[in-house]
Amino acid sequence: MKTIIEPFRIKSIEPILMTTPAERAVLLEAAGYNLFRLLSQRIVIDLLTDSGTGAMSAAQWGALMIGDESYAGSPSFGRFEAAVRDITGFRHVIPTHQGRAAERILAATLLVPGDIVPNNTHFDTTRANIEAVGAKALDLPCRESHRLAESHPFKGNIDLDQLAELLENPPGRIPVVFVTVTNNGGGGQPVSMANLRAASELCRAHGVPFYLDACRFAENAYFIKKREPGFADRSLIEIAREMFSLADGCTMSAKKDGMANIGGFLGSNDPAVARHEEELLILTEGFPTYGGLAGRDLEAIAVGLYEALDLSYQEYRHASVQYLGERIAAAGVPILEPPGGHAIYLDARAFLPHIPREQYPGQALAIELYRHAGIRSVEIGSVMMGSRDPLTGEERYAEHELVRLAIPRRVYTQSHVDYVIEALAEIAEHKDEIPGIRIVEQPPALRHFSAVFEPVPLAVAAR
Ligand code: F0G
Repeated sequence: MKTIIEPFRIKSIEPILMTTPAERAVLLEAAGYNLFRLLSQRIVIDLLTDSGTGAMSAAQWGALMIGDESYAGSPSFGRFEAAVRDITGFRHVIPTHQGRAAERILAATLLVPGDIVPNNTHFDTTRANIEAVGAKALDLPCRESHRLAESHPFKGNIDLDQLAELLENPPGRIPVVFVTVTNNGGGGQPVSMANLRAASELCRAHGVPFYLDACRFAENAYFIKKREPGFADRSLIEIAREMFSLADGCTMSAKKDGMANIGGFLGSNDPAVARHEEELLILTEGFPTYGGLAGRDLEAIAVGLYEALDLSYQEYRHASVQYLGERIAAAGVPILEPPGGHAIYLDARAFLPHIPREQYPGQALAIELYRHAGIRSVEIGSVMMGSRDPLTGEERYAEHELVRLAIPRRVYTQSHVDYVIEALAEIAEHKDEIPGIRIVEQPPALRHFSAVFEPVPLAVAAR
């Protein structure tokens, strides 16, 4: 059969409350045109994030019921540890309440002020945790990643020439090198096994630990199977094990390919590093057999990690994201090519050339997508990545003005996806009428979460 179907039936549902454009216009104004301030019940399709928003399986809900909530020595931890070890091969497994907790503990363990940490592209929490200890987060994405409209099978690769040069002539101490699979900050693009192997060899030659930010490891494994010569006949778990075997450790948010609503972990082969991490864990997260999670969460992750590696699940997920991207592009909305593993990124600057950068085309498009069809997305452009100097008022802009449509796992069906495509096709027809946006109020940091915006009337913008 050519049709790839959702490889699951729906046993339990959540109703979607339908709203009208007129009602959403009122809700938008009340929320200061900030989509983070909207109530989730007022959203028709929520594509804000794929993190912690997935649907758990019957097997995960069943596992939840046997969660053992003992403070120390819980068998739920045993099952979690066994699953993580089986897939990653790391000797030391340290649970955390989510990915950023793992990042904070790792940064406090390995880094001192002035250190440099390269990555293909740091996710914002990784960058923030590295900078919080006074180290420098350096992005080394491959050259192909800068050309949004051009396709490449492994646009998430780290730039090996730049990495080699940096390791040869380090301007400071480099205590760890990261690669993020898939590269969320670079469009959800995959990293090839060849790139991971070369980066790992470079690091080992220089005695530098090599780490994976493994949030979407299973999606990356699927891309390797489909796109990299020599992997077509390998199972996803074998590919995942090979990816992890190249690394000395990992940070993980189980809210993505752990298929859970909360959770994360640190993996490592170094007993001294693991011991220090456990000491820090006890300070803020909890005892090492639960690390900020309930026993039931550990059980859900232990099952979910394997479900993410199920081939029919990945085939459906990939087909669904790919279909969304292709149809949106065909409707005349430029996207970051090719479609990523967990999300489609709309190129708002190319789509809305009448809105200058100073009027945040990404935020303007995200607002219109909600007003028109009740779809919540997230701006990844100058609102999120840019900033305003508090003294001079000078604005720093992002390299690209993108809007991310992140697809929660196992939540939406084909008809929901068709609805999103139709919404964007309709918006393309009246795109010249979409107003730019200005910021009325903003906090000094992480402004996208709480800033207040207002539309700039088109007549004013034209003057
Ligand atoms: N690393 C990557 C690549 C991520 O995408 C995220 C989270 C994290 C680390 C942090 O994990 O949220 O469990 O603390 N990304 C979410 C997103 C928030 O919407 O892309 P966390």
